Amino acid sequence: MGKDVIIACDFSSASETFAFLDLFTEKKPFVKIGMELFYAEGPQIVRDIKARGHKIFLDLKLHDIPNTVKKAMHVLTQLGADIVNLHAAGTGAMMRAALEGLTRTDGSRPLLIAVTQLTSTDEAAMHDELLIDRPLDEVVLHYAKNAAAVGLDGIVCSPLEAGLIHDKCGAGFLTVTPGVRFADSEAGDQKRVTTPAKARELGSDYIVVGRPITKAADPVAAYLRCVKEFVE
Ligand code: C5P
Repeated sequence: MGKDVIIACDFSSASETFAFLDLFTEKKPFVKIGMELFYAEGPQIVRDIKARGHKIFLDLKLHDIPNTVKKAMHVLTQLGADIVNLHAAGTGAMMRAALEGLTRTDGSRPLLIAVTQLTSTDEAAMHDELLIDRPLDEVVLHYAKNAAAVGLDGIVCSPLEAGLIHDKCGAGFLTVTPGVRFADSEAGDQKRVTTPAKARELGSDYIVVGRPITKAADPVAAYLRCVKEFVE
């Protein structure tokens, strides 16, 4: 898969999501389904959005013992998601089990990417609560390397880290990057933001864009603007 814009469908119901997706009458965008929508509507929401012709990043961030994650991934892989994810903190054993669970009988599987440290966890919390006393950047890079070493396809990170991750984990190791804003729009609660054009320049493979598209007066125009800046 090449570079693409993924719209974060952070809606709480299927009806709201479908009303939003109905706006896209031509190109069907790649969409991200997160925990809120998945837990509200169940697995059928993935099948329904897939059936409408969208690619799907199922952002459920699994983290449990290897056997449980393997079995859960086996269920998710049948839903037709194109990208799924987990926490690299679950260790290599859990990530390997996830890959096994995801692999279908014909050998195909969705892409599997890892979350390293959540951006909501700052260095102080990591030191004081998690008792990880290394610098945050080093921890993120180390978790990314762990993910690459066991055969995962990429990580979620900031566009600002995309170059370093490609250098250390391989050019083909995917960087899926939220924290994207248009130059002339509000950052909201995102702290370190880049424009779609800057994310492209920094080497992001996929940008994940929520509110700049979902809350825009004209979401289709906002999406096409992202595609134009990031992909074309
Ligand atoms: O609305 P906005 O563009 O900020 O949405 C970004 C999406 O990416 C949200 O679904 C958010 O949960 C997700 N995300 C993020 N930062 C991370 C990981 C995920 O913003 N580090």
